[in-house]
Amino acid sequence: MERIRFDFNNMLSANVGKRHGVAKDDLEKAFAGAEKAFGHFQRLIADVHNRTSLNLEWVRLPFKSRVMIDQVQRLGDEIASRYENVISLGIGGSYLGIKAAQDALCSPYHNEFASLRGKRPRIYFEGNNLDPDTIGALLGELDPKKTFVIVISKSGETTETKSAFAVTKSWLKKGVGKRFGRHVFAITDLRAGALRREVSEEHAKDPLGFYSLPLAKGVGGRYSELNIGLIHLAVMGVSVRHLLGGAQAMAARCVSKDLFENPALMYAVLNNILYRKKGKTIAVLMPFSETLKSTAEWYSQLLAESLGKKYHRRILRTADGSEFWLRDRSRIANVGRTPVPSRGTSDLHSIHQNNVEGENNKTVTFIKVKKFRRDIKVPAGNGFLSGVSYSKLLSLAGEATEWSLSSESRPNCAITMPEISPYYWGGLIYFFEMATAFEGELLNVNAFDQPGVEGYKHYMYYKLRKPGVSRALHKEIQKHPLAKDKKFVL
Ligand code: PA5
Repeated sequence: MERIRFDFNNMLSANVGKRHGVAKDDLEKAFAGAEKAFGHFQRLIADVHNRTSLNLEWVRLPFKSRVMIDQVQRLGDEIASRYENVISLGIGGSYLGIKAAQDALCSPYHNEFASLRGKRPRIYFEGNNLDPDTIGALLGELDPKKTFVIVISKSGETTETKSAFAVTKSWLKKGVGKRFGRHVFAITDLRAGALRREVSEEHAKDPLGFYSLPLAKGVGGRYSELNIGLIHLAVMGVSVRHLLGGAQAMAARCVSKDLFENPALMYAVLNNILYRKKGKTIAVLMPFSETLKSTAEWYSQLLAESLGKKYHRRILRTADGSEFWLRDRSRIANVGRTPVPSRGTSDLHSIHQNNVEGENNKTVTFIKVKKFRRDIKVPAGNGFLSGVSYSKLLSLAGEATEWSLSSESRPNCAITMPEISPYYWGGLIYFFEMATAFEGELLNVNAFDQPGVEGYKHYMYYKLRKPGVSRALHKEIQKHPLAKDKKFVL
């Protein structure tokens, strides 16, 4: 079977020069650090206690039992057979992976054309913003009797999801009556949070209300597509078994300590060298495929929340090898490459100008696809384009982009998927998750928390008078209010 390939020729000094590329001696110097980072991560994930307490259980998500996979697939088929529409509510890690999977693995224009979606429902994403226009328009148009709602929130407390679910629930209640809970699937923590409480209350009233799947313990939102995303895939008729199979195949490649055998480790090491030694602080991800655009958006969150950290990690280790990670407040890090999701060829007519001639502070990663699901040719009579297939044009555009960047000493690399299928997409996202985890090790930050996201949430909770907001937080916000001087507002 063909494999996903990682081509890093254009990250090396041989192709982009020593000043901007990774030279042999850069790589040799990085070997020891890479080995240490890899060894540490392998020890961690070999231990179930560390996996769950440090949010590393995602590494095991591809290895689900056949029975469980069949159950999910059957449940998905059942939901699909009963509803015309699905609304998926969630934000961040409870949204981006699902949207990426939808775009990559279901037909383009899925919602628009019945012939393309087969017997599967239309899908709408809400709760990933607080824009009243979109949710208002959607609920104004859909028929609640024909609609199923999947609500996903690990914490069960996120304002965006909570508000969207509250609005959707009252719309369902009005439209279908007291059995509205049978139109709902809730994915949330097994015990904690407001959503879990709602599930328990609803079950008490109607045992058939609120289908629910407990989230696997020890998996952070952005690493959870192979967990929270499965029911969505099953409803859409995508093979969960193939998706997990692809992730398993990638997992097998990521256990090698040989950099030249482990694509995720090599990706992390090269990007780390380019970031720390060559000033490449911006990470552009440019799939040459329209349907992988939202995969680039998913990766943006993965990279930004995992590596963008204020403090380094301080590791405390007990005699039995259990680890506890603290934010080492004595060592400010302020690290992390800045992700820029992009897409070829659209963005060749937009940010590519800056990538080629602007500040040389970026690495560009392409995702290329060898074989598309369909292909079309430009008809005869169109000059030099006559008879040329779209896939040929796209692949040539990719090659041309590599050339234009490399000839201006701009490091770039390519990940090639043999095709966009559940198997290879599963492998692709596992590759990025592993690479990000390795980069976290190399930067010595906790790649599995997101404390920076809390600030805005706390401020909103304070302003909305949410019960339980600490006095310390009240004091801090009062001490540093948002200062606005009218003379600086034109
Ligand atoms: O990666 C993460 O953990 C976050 O992006 C969360 O997914 C996001 O904040 C949504 O959280 P929740 O699923 O608890 O609603």
